[in-house]
Amino acid sequence: MYKFFFQLVFKRMDPERAHYLAFRWIRLAARVPVLRTFVAAALAPRYKELRTETLGLRMHGPFGLAAGFDKNAVAIDGMAMLGFDHVEIGTVTGEPQPGNPKQRLFRLVADRALINRMGFNNEGSAAVAARLAARNPVFRTTVGVNIGKTKVVTEADAAADYVKSTERLAAHADYLVVNVSSPNTPGLRNLQATESLRPLLTAVREAADRTVTHRRVPLLVKIAPDLADEDVDAVADLAVELGLDGIIATNTTIARDGLGLQSPAALVKETGGLSGAPLKERSLEVLGRLYGRVGDRITLVGVGGIENAEDAWQRILAGATLVQGYSAFIYEGPFYARAIHKGLAARLAASPYATLADAVGAESRKAAK
Ligand SMILES: Cc1cc2nc3c(=O)[nH]c(=O)nc-3n(C[C@H](O)[C@H](O)[C@H](O)COP(=O)(O)O)c2cc1C
Repeated sequence: MYKFFFQLVFKRMDPERAHYLAFRWIRLAARVPVLRTFVAAALAPRYKELRTETLGLRMHGPFGLAAGFDKNAVAIDGMAMLGFDHVEIGTVTGEPQPGNPKQRLFRLVADRALINRMGFNNEGSAAVAARLAARNPVFRTTVGVNIGKTKVVTEADAAADYVKSTERLAAHADYLVVNVSSPNTPGLRNLQATESLRPLLTAVREAADRTVTHRRVPLLVKIAPDLADEDVDAVADLAVELGLDGIIATNTTIARDGLGLQSPAALVKETGGLSGAPLKERSLEVLGRLYGRVGDRITLVGVGGIENAEDAWQRILAGATLVQGYSAFIYEGPFYARAIHKGLAARLAASPYATLADAVGAESRKAAK
C-alpha cells in the first residue's frame, strides 16, 4: 500500500516537500494517544531476544533511525512509534543555519538511493536543547544527539563550536555523536584527520564531563565511507586511545560507485552525499575493517544501505552492535523498522548464536582466523 502511495503521490512531489509532509503526519499521529498506542503496538513489537545493552544503555532492539531525518528533535516519539528503537537527532550545529539553497535532495528511485546536499539545515543547539528539555519523560526512547560544525565557523574554531553544542545538548543525550563526515559542509571532513580529530574529541569529552556530572555521556564519532583504509585504521586506533565509546560507520559518500545505469545522468551528477543501496558494500567493508581493528573494545554502529533484515544481520555479523537506516525508510515506508526487527529475530533463532551479542562480529572473527 505504501509503495502504491509512493508511486502515486510522493514520487511526483519534490522530495523535500514529501519528506515534510510525511513527517507532519507522523508527528500528528504520535500526538493522538490512542493512535500512538495502536500503531506502536503494531510496529514496535518487542522481541525479548533482541534486547541490546550497549553504551551503558538498555535497548529493546538494535535498529534505529540514522541522523538527518529528524534534525530538530521534533518527531522522536513518532519515529519510535514506527518501531525505530533509538532515534539519532541532528545534525545540530552550534548556531542555527538554513542549509544550502533548494533543491538539495534528489531521489534516484531505480537505484534505491538518495543524493543530498542539505548542508546541516537546523534550528541550532539552543533551540534543540530547549525542545529536548521539554520532552515528556514518560517516553523513554533512546535519543542520540549528533552534532556538527556551523558553516560560517572556520576549521580553526571548529572545536569551540562543537563544545558550545555539547554544553547545551549533552544533558539531553543518551549518547552524543561528533559528526565529522558530512560532505556538505566545506572542510568538515578534514576534521577526520587524527591531528584535528584528537583535540576535537578531547574537547568534546571534557565539555560533556563538565556539563553532565551524574553520569558519563557516551561519545561516538561518525565517519565517512570515503576515508582511505589507512585512515579508517587511524580513526579506530585514536578512538581506542581516547577511550571513545563508539564509531558510526558510515555517513553518505561523494563517490558514485554502485549506481546502475537506470538513474538519469543529470541526477547522478548532482553534488552531495549518496546514500541508500549503492552505499551498502563500502559501509559494510568499513565496518568489518573497524571491527578487525577495535574488536569488542568499542561499540560499532552500522549504517549505509541497510534495506532489509538481511542487510542488518550482515552488519551485526560484521561487528555492529547497533544498526541504523534512513534512505530505505523513504522507499520501504512505515513497516521498514518493524520488518528489520522481525527479520532479525528470525535470523537469530535460525543461527547458532544464543544471543544477539554472540552474533556481533562473528563473521569478522571467522574471517580473521
Ligand atoms: C537527506 C539526508 C540527510 C542527512 N543528514 C545527515 C546529518 O545531518 N547528519 C548525519 O550524521 N548524517 C546525515 N545523513 C546520513 C545518514 O545518517 C546515513 O549515515 C546515510 O544516509 C547512510 O544511511 P542510509 O543509506 O540508510 O541512508 C543524511 C542522509 C540523508 C539521506
